[in-house]
Amino acid sequence: MRRASLFLSPGDVADGILQGHLLVAIDVLRASTTICQALVAGARDILPVAEIEEAKRLAESLGQENTLLCGEREGRIIPGFDLGNSPLEYPSEKVKDKTLVMCTTNGTALLARLKGVETVIAGFVNAGAVVRHLGSLKGDMAVFCAGLHGGFSLEDAVCGGTIVAGLESRLARRERVLLSDGALAGKALFQRWGKNLPGLFKVAHHARYLASLGFERDLAFAARMNSLPVVPVYREGRITSLKN
Ligand code: MLT
Repeated sequence: MRRASLFLSPGDVADGILQGHLLVAIDVLRASTTICQALVAGARDILPVAEIEEAKRLAESLGQENTLLCGEREGRIIPGFDLGNSPLEYPSEKVKDKTLVMCTTNGTALLARLKGVETVIAGFVNAGAVVRHLGSLKGDMAVFCAGLHGGFSLEDAVCGGTIVAGLESRLARRERVLLSDGALAGKALFQRWGKNLPGLFKVAHHARYLASLGFERDLAFAARMNSLPVVPVYREGRITSLKN
């Protein structure tokens, strides 16, 4: 038997939970999705940071040739940065073999809090790959939603439900997965929205905000379930693809 917990807002992250669990971090719109795209496009690694000034200092210390400064505030590219947080800005021609220093409002802020503890990054685009990876490991799992400004966001909760329900069904024949109340809530939301992600993105708050900025194509991109079968792993301050 193993336990699967889903923490629906970042305020729920507590140090005691971090040790001894397989950790997963989710920010569907858009940090997780963009990280998956960047790695599939050949980025060498991604260094997530919480603050803009910290990102600038880190990028400067790495030298400009192979480093890109990436991120957003209020959904828009940060002035002076090379790339924003749209997955469509991360084709191979721009990011192959580059180190990306990434600073986003909720997603990389959550990762900065998880620094030092190995964490897998998930969105809808790589949910199946993450479930397969977790199913191949032993141990209890804790899934953290980046949420929105410290609170709940519907798309992250649905994605968390996708992961816990996926693990439960993958292990069904060999091991019982005991779901926490948060995981049960996420699973119920997955059952409601999992087959209608475009519909989810019509009602979810941050999705509507991104659409109002003209990022509708990002929503379509983020809704493509299992389109990017990559497992980004955050360890020792760097995100790389599992096979690296
Ligand atoms: C975040 O980390 O807050 C998001 O990825 C925001 C966004 O760019 O949509």
